[in-house]
Amino acid sequence: MAKHRAHTTANEPDKSSGQNPTAAASTDPVGRHRAAPGPEGLSVWATAQSTGPVQRRGRYVRESVQHPARMLPAIAAHAVNAYTQPGDLVLDPMCGIGTTLVEAIHADRDAIGVEYESRWSDIADANIKHAHAQGATGRAGVIRGDATGILSLVPGALAGQVALVVTSPPYGPTVHGLVRPGADGVAKFDNAYNDGTDRGNLAYRDLTGLADGFAQILAGCHTLLRPGGVVVVTARPWRKHGELVDLPSAVIGAGIRAGLTPVDRCVALLAAVRDGGLVARPSFFQLQAVRKARAGGTPMHLIAHEDVLVFVKSPAPESGVVA
Ligand SMILES: C[S@@+](CC[C@H](N)C(=O)[O-])C[C@H]1O[C@@H](n2cnc3c(N)ncnc32)[C@H](O)[C@@H]1O
Repeated sequence: MAKHRAHTTANEPDKSSGQNPTAAASTDPVGRHRAAPGPEGLSVWATAQSTGPVQRRGRYVRESVQHPARMLPAIAAHAVNAYTQPGDLVLDPMCGIGTTLVEAIHADRDAIGVEYESRWSDIADANIKHAHAQGATGRAGVIRGDATGILSLVPGALAGQVALVVTSPPYGPTVHGLVRPGADGVAKFDNAYNDGTDRGNLAYRDLTGLADGFAQILAGCHTLLRPGGVVVVTARPWRKHGELVDLPSAVIGAGIRAGLTPVDRCVALLAAVRDGGLVARPSFFQLQAVRKARAGGTPMHLIAHEDVLVFVKSPAPESGVVA
């Protein structure tokens, strides 16, 4: 990992191009309310004051849009700012196009990521290079591999060094993706992690298989975390055949099995807060599903948030102390 030290401060808005998603939110008329009592003290994170494309514009390479389930940059930035200090090490074991890493290095933290698909890890590499060209000061590296065996992928010297893990598991083999109008209505594209033939990607497991794989990944992260280190997992509520899949509970169970202690459950808004109300930004498919359900008499609501599950690695008991 090459060290790039430039003269910017953590959270300084990027003046050359792109935006600091946290700064973008804090200059918003409603975002300003977050000054008191402070964003770290709230369990509702105002992470979509601007849209995903606006948060990423100029800050991420164009190809990033191809990933079917990117994290909002403001979610990663909020977690990094809330739970770490400059110079700390941040890990994302399922890093996709590298959102956690990019936001960490812009905030003068160091970052390491693992991603199963080379298609996405290549884009993560490009995003890190781009961030450094824009003055990001942290160091970052991406490893291509299966994070269920993360301890065999990362250098052994990292054990006990990680201050924060920020990650999100895949939710379902196909996700919303993008739509393009066609002769027969709309066609989906960029809605899958790979062509579906490689089952090593956790996206192709059922909920139990996904939870088991995720528990293995978190167990590896537990070894890499320093005592008191924090794990932030975002899980987007997801519906299968119209029914909610309880991914957040599966994530909490996986964390406990991995030896972590759940300490908080927050909400990262996918909707903007404006004049005391929420401005939702649903995808075409979400809107379509909710309209259909309501027309059929099912009182379904639009999903306007991600669950954020927060865990800690308990400090090891002092030797000689009997519990
Ligand atoms: C929800 S996405 C994460 C997106 C990421 N936060 C971003 O902003 O780009 C989950 C990622 O986990 C990856 N993945 C799935 N199984 C994996 C495994 N066994 N090891 C490492 N990564 C895996 C998927 O390819 C996908 O990119």
